[in-house]
Amino acid sequence: MLKANDPCWCRSGRKFKRCHKDEPGLRPGRIGPPRAVPADIAAPHYAATGGGSRRGEPMVKPPEVLAAMRRTGKLAAAILAETGAAVAPGVTTDELDRIAHEAHLRVGAYPSPLNYRGFPKSICTSVNEVICHGIPDDRPLVEGDIVNLDITTYAEGVHGDTNATFCVGRVDEGSRRLIQVTRECLERGIAAVGPGRPLSDIGRAIEEHATRHGFSVVRTFVGHGIGREFHAEPSVPHYYDPAADLRLEPGMTFTIEPMIAMGDPRERIWPDGWTAVTVDGLRCAQFEHTVAVTDDGVEVLTGP
Ligand code: MF3
Ligand code: CO
Ligand code: CO
Repeated sequence: MLKANDPCWCRSGRKFKRCHKDEPGLRPGRIGPPRAVPADIAAPHYAATGGGSRRGEPMVKPPEVLAAMRRTGKLAAAILAETGAAVAPGVTTDELDRIAHEAHLRVGAYPSPLNYRGFPKSICTSVNEVICHGIPDDRPLVEGDIVNLDITTYAEGVHGDTNATFCVGRVDEGSRRLIQVTRECLERGIAAVGPGRPLSDIGRAIEEHATRHGFSVVRTFVGHGIGREFHAEPSVPHYYDPAADLRLEPGMTFTIEPMIAMGDPRERIWPDGWTAVTVDGLRCAQFEHTVAVTDDGVEVLTGP
């Protein structure tokens, strides 16, 4: 138990009478039934089977796939903004799932997580110490929580994948700092993308920024190629991995989605098989964009 005037683990330099160490920790809530998608909305191949991505998608995408990814990426960005605007104390993560699900249907898109490898809901909602893949449930958000909303949208035969971490009401300084540094980690990762550059430049830039601020980088979960398939080659580590020596080429599309932890970045998985929480119960934040390598740099496909 934290004593008054102990330094907070969140490394803000401040002293806290109460801190996250006092929190009981997140517990699984009740998960409602999967939401329905009308038959006139084109669904990915796994929607009916609960399978995963197929192998063999080319890393360099043809122009028509890039054009479709640009449009789908914008849809995902708009749905993330709309759902994020509903984050508030008292709102359940299942309500956020409903808002995002209905936003997909409104634009004729399929919410990619739904039945992907059997995932039961339309988005991922990751609260506080959840690193990623949190399942929306009936727990109302509480003032002081942080919540990541991860939206992946399938339209025109391609996926767009983006996420952001939101504050629920007023949030402590340390968590706000974590969120800001994580946002900067994504920006720096994106700035490290360009033709001819090694993929490892992305993780190097992210890790350098995170560790400089006293945070740590999650290693188990990485960015991924994306296009007609949800998860494809290449894997994009968010730490420096000299083995990630792939040279980037124009037309390659992948996500950058750093998960940055306040303490130990290792995870434990809940019995639901999905929810990844930090082993030490300390908070974790994440931001994600889908990007394309261009002739002279990088294009963010899930931007505004
Ligand atoms: N959108 C997540 C990612 O960034 C993946 C979610 S997998 C799901 O890669 F099954 F949970 F949807
Ligand atoms: Co992703
Ligand atoms: Co995502």
